[in-house]
Amino acid sequence: MQSLTDNLTRVAILASGNGSNAENIMALQTELGIKVCCIITDKKNAGVIEKAKKYRVKTYLVERSKKEIQEAKIVEILKELEVEWIFLAGYMKILSKFILDKFYDSKLGASKIINIHPSLLPLFPGANAYEQTYRSEAEVSGVTVHFVDEGMDTGPIILQESFKRNSDDSFDEFCKKGLELEWKIYPKAIQIVLNGSFKKMEGCI
Ligand code: GRF
Repeated sequence: MQSLTDNLTRVAILASGNGSNAENIMALQTELGIKVCCIITDKKNAGVIEKAKKYRVKTYLVERSKKEIQEAKIVEILKELEVEWIFLAGYMKILSKFILDKFYDSKLGASKIINIHPSLLPLFPGANAYEQTYRSEAEVSGVTVHFVDEGMDTGPIILQESFKRNSDDSFDEFCKKGLELEWKIYPKAIQIVLNGSFKKMEGCI
C-alpha cells in the first residue's frame, strides 16, 4: 500500500545554530511537498535540536572531527534515509568534493545541495555576513539562496532579494529584517529547484 509520504521529496537539513530557517522549512513541509528526514548538526547545544523535536524530526549530532570522517558519517546517514536533497541552513562548515559528488546531478549540472547566505552574493561571502554588510553602511542589503559548490558561497544563485537599511537601523533591527526575508525566500528557492524551473542567470556566477 502506498504511504502518504511516498511522493514527497526526501530532504535533510544541516544546521549549526538557532535553526529558524530549519524550523520554517519543517513547518512548510506539506506545502513544499517535502519530507524532512533528519536534521544533522555539528553542535550539541544548537537551538535547532529543540526545534526538530517540535516537528518530530530526528536529529543526528555529527561533531567536528577530521573532515573526511565527519562527512563519511553524514553521507552514511543520508544514504540510510534515502535523502535526495540537502538544505544548508546556517551550517558553519564548507562541504568537500566527497559529499558534493555524492549529490551531483548531471541533468541539473550541480549538486542537489543548496544554502542560504545573508548577503547579496557575490558581496560579503563567508562568516558574519550581516556584520560585514552592516559595517559597510550599504543602503541596500539582501539575502541569497544558491547551489553549493566547493567554494565559499560561490555556487550558482537560485534566488536573491534585497532589503533597505535605514540610517538609524540598529544592528539587531538590520538582522531582523534580513532574517525575515530569509524565511520568505528559502521556501521560494526550494520550490524553484524542486519543480525544475531553475535557470542560471545570464552573466551570473
Ligand atoms: C542565517 O542568517 C543564514 O543565512 C546563515 O546562518 C544564519 C542561520 O540562522 N547561513 P538560523 O539558524 O536559521 O536562525
